[in-house]
Amino acid sequence: MLPRVSQCARRARRHCLAPSLLRQNHNQASSGTSQSTGRTASFGFKTVPEESKESLVKDVFDSVASKYDLMNDASSLGVHRLWKDSFVSTLRPGCKGPMRCIDVAGGTGDIALRILDHAREQYADRETSVEIVDINAQMLSEGFKRFKKTMYHNTPQVSFHEANAQELPPSQFKDDTYDLYTIAFGIRNCTSIPAVLKEAHRVLKPGATFACLEFSKVGNPLLSALYDQYSFSVIPLMGTILAGDSASYQYLVESIRKFPSQPDFAQMIRDAGFATGGDRDGGAWTDLWGGIASIHTGVKV
Ligand SMILES: C[S@@+](CC[C@H](N)C(=O)[O-])C[C@H]1O[C@@H](n2cnc3c(N)ncnc32)[C@H](O)[C@@H]1O
Repeated sequence: MLPRVSQCARRARRHCLAPSLLRQNHNQASSGTSQSTGRTASFGFKTVPEESKESLVKDVFDSVASKYDLMNDASSLGVHRLWKDSFVSTLRPGCKGPMRCIDVAGGTGDIALRILDHAREQYADRETSVEIVDINAQMLSEGFKRFKKTMYHNTPQVSFHEANAQELPPSQFKDDTYDLYTIAFGIRNCTSIPAVLKEAHRVLKPGATFACLEFSKVGNPLLSALYDQYSFSVIPLMGTILAGDSASYQYLVESIRKFPSQPDFAQMIRDAGFATGGDRDGGAWTDLWGGIASIHTGVKV
């Protein structure tokens, strides 16, 4: 059974941001073609035709967008904030002068805001900029509302773009452009991880950094069992209570389990043309909380 998408979410899907607020790329962003390729993709624990995954994922985020930040805090007991802080401070945006950053699958802007705050607070840098890219207009709309309350609103430091991570329009996202590419809790939702990595490699300058924060594989069996118990029972229940939607949260939990292990993902990053550290915690990746999440980085060669 596919996840239930509330009527409210369907109405929300039809909502559009003013063009001046959001440079949309509808062709790219909703490229869920109706022609079957015969290939399949995982959608949580389900196997679906490859070409339907994108719209199913879009339904999930349409459904959760307005409650996304609240649910993130509730379901992780605020821990996602610590992970995101740690992700951004590891990258030290602004340390070598202003950077042009792209935050893909940027959702409501959690990473972008941290990048800009870090550059300003640590290096008095008010020139570093972040382009927030997401396939989902509702998530971007929530991010836009949030940035409106910050000093970055209406400055060249932040912009919002509706586009697919797998096919960033080359006219808008040019080759060899960015100093830093970030993607947090987004890549597992994409149909083709290699396609996302290929695009990341294309848009980064040579020598620039790709960085991914994603749920990962827990090494310790006891922690893994406790974590499974928590995520499969508590998170969908919280989804029902706080967002009136357990199916979307069930998908989010299932999709975590389908994501490749740390070494497998590191290999995919290398296959896309990035140099990484060795295959160990502290090398190609850094585990957070025993591998519940991990940070992978690579340098474009
Ligand atoms: C779990 S949210 C993460 C949002 C944000 N990065 C954060 O850490 O809070 C995943 C985001 O990925 C976006 N997404 C899913 N598939 C995508 C794709 N193919 N291209 C761009 N964004 C995508 C969703 O719309 C959603 O906003």
